[in-house]
Order: sequence, then C-alpha cells, then structure tokens
Amino acid sequence: MATLEELHEEASGCTRCGLAKGRTNVVFGTGGPSARLMLVGEGPGHDEDLAGEPFVGRSGRLLEVLVRQEVGLERSECYIANVVKCRPPGNRDPLPDEIEACSPFLDAQIDLVAPAVVVTLGNFAARTLLRTKERISDLRGRCYPFRGGHLVPTFHPAAALRGGGTVVAQMRADLVRARMILGGGPC
Ligand code: URA
Repeated sequence: MATLEELHEEASGCTRCGLAKGRTNVVFGTGGPSARLMLVGEGPGHDEDLAGEPFVGRSGRLLEVLVRQEVGLERSECYIANVVKCRPPGNRDPLPDEIEACSPFLDAQIDLVAPAVVVTLGNFAARTLLRTKERISDLRGRCYPFRGGHLVPTFHPAAALRGGGTVVAQMRADLVRARMILGGGPC
C-alpha cells in the first residue's frame, strides 16, 4: 500500500474529475499519520483552496474549539480530510461523479491512518462513508461500527455557524460520544 506522502503526491497531480480545473491547491489532508481521531468534511472552501489545508476558515476555527473542549484533542492530534480534495466552484455541493472519483483517496487515508473513531461532518461525509442516502439529522446521535473502528456522524460546523445554539449543542453531544469511545466506552 502507498504511504500518505505518496498518495498526497499522486493527488497533487490528479485530474480524475472536473474540479481539477478550478483548484488553486489540492487539499489532501493534515494531521497525525496515526491519529486516533479522524475528522472528515465535505470539500475545501475558498480559504482551504488557497491554503492547501482543510478547515482553516471560520468553520475550521469552530471545529477546533469544539474538538478541544469536548474531546480534549488539539487539531494537530487529529487527522483531518475531506470527501473531495478540490474546491467545488462557488462552494456548490460536490457531484456524485466527483465524490466517486475522489473516494479512493479518502478510503486509502482511512486505511493508512486507521483511526479508532471517524467523526463525519455534515451530509456528504456521512452518506459517502456509511453508503446511505439518509440525512445527517437522522443519522447523528449514535455510533456506527466502521472498518474495525467506529464512526460518529455529526453536523458540519458551517451548519452550526448558521443554526446557532441547538446545532452546536448537538455537535457537542456527538463529540462527547466520540470521546467516550476513544476512552474505551461502548459504541
Ligand atoms: N468545509 C469542509 O467541508 N471542509 C473544509 O476543509 C472546509 C470547509
């Protein structure tokens, strides 16, 4: 199996879908290569496209605070990636063929990092990894066995920025669930 560095290199030249044309940088993923917690978002936005790093904008700042407060981990202690590695134009939703083209990268990242818990952020990450069409509001609030570890779906931090206190409280509860599983608790 390739290493994370080799995969990053391969992704940097990827032209498997139309998103390649509009990108400034491929946003492959960052963090500890053997992190126990992996956070998976949807796709890079404007700030991430420029920086080449996931979740560096407003959503990322909220995510960092919530993970620090509820899980007790710093950003550098988690592995962070997205379903699609290139920015969809105008921040539109990624299309099914774009998700499919990019999925081998995310699958390989999960295999290589082998986190104990994957927290998915929003509809696209949960639906892609759980292979379902259900909505995040129906999927969240529980834990799923996932590739030898566990998956905890929660809202996207952008939804929390829009939706305010109730969404933030639900995200906090989901992250507490992740912390308990990381601490050896049941799924
Ligand atoms: N939203 C995402 O889903 N991912 C990012 O990296 C930034 C914003």
